[in-house]
Amino acid sequence: MSVRQAQASDLEVVRAIAASSPFAAAWSLKQLQGEIGSPKSCFLVFDDGEVRGYLLAIQVASETQLVDIAVRDTGRGIGKALLDHLDGAARNWGCGKITLEVSAKNERALRLYRRAGYDIVGRRPKFYNDGSDAILMDRPLA
Ligand SMILES: CC(C)(COP(=O)(O)OP(=O)(O)OC[C@H]1O[C@@H](n2cnc3c(N)ncnc32)[C@H](O)[C@@H]1OP(=O)(O)O)[C@@H](O)C(=O)NCCC(=O)NCCS
Repeated sequence: MSVRQAQASDLEVVRAIAASSPFAAAWSLKQLQGEIGSPKSCFLVFDDGEVRGYLLAIQVASETQLVDIAVRDTGRGIGKALLDHLDGAARNWGCGKITLEVSAKNERALRLYRRAGYDIVGRRPKFYNDGSDAILMDRPLA
């Protein structure tokens, strides 16, 4: 299992994973390029010889916001491995918590986040285009 910083040569694969993942964001190459090497971005890939997943988070003042996460082979612990690495980045930024928004319909992601220590802290009704609510979650960092 190997999580590392994303680099420019990963971006086509990252875009392909995003494009084939329900609930993931639709990224342009330019948007992703802007996140590489940014001091306020944590852009990780899971690479075990092949890039199988990515995570993108940003620092906003004292909070770390999880922007997107998607994996190619679900159910193998790749999402959990990426989330575990985010804790370290958030602590390095001096952030007190990690926040995220997820569709109420995205059961797999909700389960992953709950198991990784994220608590439900709010709800935005009919937030997404498909009419689903956004669930707001936080993970306080000690
Ligand atoms: C949500 C998402 C990132 C989860 O990633 P994942 O790699 O499947 O998550 P994990 O494998 O770490 O955990 C998921 C399950 O696999 C199980 N698992 C973990 N390691 C495992 C292993 N080695 N073998 C088998 N199962 C394993 C976990 O226990 C968990 O079980 P559960 O389904 O009963 O909860 C992934 O489903 C995805 O890419 N979805 C589409 C994009 C998306 O929804 N992104 C979120 C936007 S908010």
